[in-house]
Amino acid sequence: MNISPATGALGAHVDGLDLTALDATQFAALKSALDEHLVLYVAGQDLDRHQLSALGRRFGPLFRHPIVDNGFADCPEVLELLREPEDKIMFGGESWHADITWMNPAGYVSILHGIELPPVGGDTAFASNIAAFETLSDGLKSFLRGQSAYHSYHWYEHREDPDYTALQPVVRRHPASGREGLYVNRMFTSRFDGMTAKESAPILDHLFAHMEQHPFTCRFRWQKGGVILWDNRFTLHYPINDFHGVRRRMIRTTSLEA
Ligand code: SIN
Repeated sequence: MNISPATGALGAHVDGLDLTALDATQFAALKSALDEHLVLYVAGQDLDRHQLSALGRRFGPLFRHPIVDNGFADCPEVLELLREPEDKIMFGGESWHADITWMNPAGYVSILHGIELPPVGGDTAFASNIAAFETLSDGLKSFLRGQSAYHSYHWYEHREDPDYTALQPVVRRHPASGREGLYVNRMFTSRFDGMTAKESAPILDHLFAHMEQHPFTCRFRWQKGGVILWDNRFTLHYPINDFHGVRRRMIRTTSLEA
């Protein structure tokens, strides 16, 4: 397995692996690369939905979406992210976010596989929440370490739905590296515990703008057969809506924290 970092902040290209046939040593090496780089692009793969599900399950129990109905009938833990030529918006919105932060256990590893891709465009960008946290002032770091925040599925509509809301720590420590990362995102984080959304907004807006800066990011251009694995606990992602009149079809699964 060869690993080459994508940027100074996060992400790596991995080759020399067949994701449908990883033995225990290879899987441990993949997981360790993910712990280090937080996002991995693995080229040249060909996984059907059952193989994607089997790979996801090696990271943890798989998420079944309680609201979105684009899971496969015979494999509901794998979602089809389909953008038809006439569609205008991307699944995942046009906003930096992490998957499934609005429930407990929360989203851990998402695995996205490109099946039909535009000739150009539709890249996926990622940001390191660890790089973002480490570049805050010591005063703000200390304040945030003691905080928890609510994450709510419908917050993109500015609505807190108690059925799909979870209280999460604002700062998380990576179990392998020991590094700390911010755990808030623009799509789902509504407010700090003990504060109103209005009181929380100035601090959260500051954090979101800080986290989304270019030096903390990487961006992958999809090629047929590409698979991206990312750690939702320590990254944000953003699907880029810059292609029109062509189909983009992906399959995705997300394992939850055990
Ligand atoms: C997502 O937000 O999970 C989808 C990412 C993508 O389609 O590039």
